[in-house]
Amino acid sequence: MPETPAVPTTSPISVIAHLSDTHIDTGTEDGGRSVERTRAVMEYLNTLPYDLDAIIATGDIADHATPSEYETARKLLTSRHPLLACPGNHDERAAYRTHFLGEPASTAPVNTAHITDRFTLALCDTSVPGEDHGRLADETLTWLSDLLADTPPTRPVLIGFHHPPVPLNTPYVDDIRQLDEHRLTDLTSRHPNVTAFLAGHAHTPAATTFANRPLLVAPGVVSTLRLPWEPQSAPTHHVHHDLPPAVAFHVLDDTNRLTTHYRPIPLPSS
Ligand SMILES: [Fe+2]
Ligand SMILES: [Fe+2]
Repeated sequence: MPETPAVPTTSPISVIAHLSDTHIDTGTEDGGRSVERTRAVMEYLNTLPYDLDAIIATGDIADHATPSEYETARKLLTSRHPLLACPGNHDERAAYRTHFLGEPASTAPVNTAHITDRFTLALCDTSVPGEDHGRLADETLTWLSDLLADTPPTRPVLIGFHHPPVPLNTPYVDDIRQLDEHRLTDLTSRHPNVTAFLAGHAHTPAATTFANRPLLVAPGVVSTLRLPWEPQSAPTHHVHHDLPPAVAFHVLDDTNRLTTHYRPIPLPSS
């Protein structure tokens, strides 16, 4: 009998699971789909035989930003792994803070840093109150600038947010992408240790570049965007519900090289 290999006590790699666009909906007939899919994704991640360095959820946590949706999301998005999130255009900062984070209500941007012994993860709020497009508020850029200034230049930094700052050849999403992105380009050009950008919003797994780094877009949990060259059931029907939810795994290796794997998550009924 071959011996079972010993489980290493320290890992040379860091693994970040990236989910996005859960759109938790507790007020409509279709809402059960968002809960079922989010539950399946979290059960998959929470039963992995491996301790992740982080799980990130890059926005559109709730669909209508109601207290009920955030309270449901808060129960679903729990994990033994460190879990961080940022708002998207479907979220509202005050309700997000009160009912999802359990913090005092505030309309200030929701920016979060996660600092491990190997890397720094900055989750930035690109939401613009009342709008679907994204933009980094001045105070968010200042927060990010201060964080980068305080980070040793040899430490990898991953920057996550909801809205991709470049077009993805997805007409519906491109119209409501992150604007004024040159400010982020200028800031990160002074920090070569920024390794990659991580986004959501597009509801499709995608990989491109921004500011000379990888820009990695997580699939949508609740639905998948139909691409222009795919069959369209109607001109205004932008989403598939027949494809399963999926997550991205971002792997930072011992040379600080980032590799991303995309993983569909089977639903209990499929
Ligand atoms: Fe979304
Ligand atoms: Fe969005």
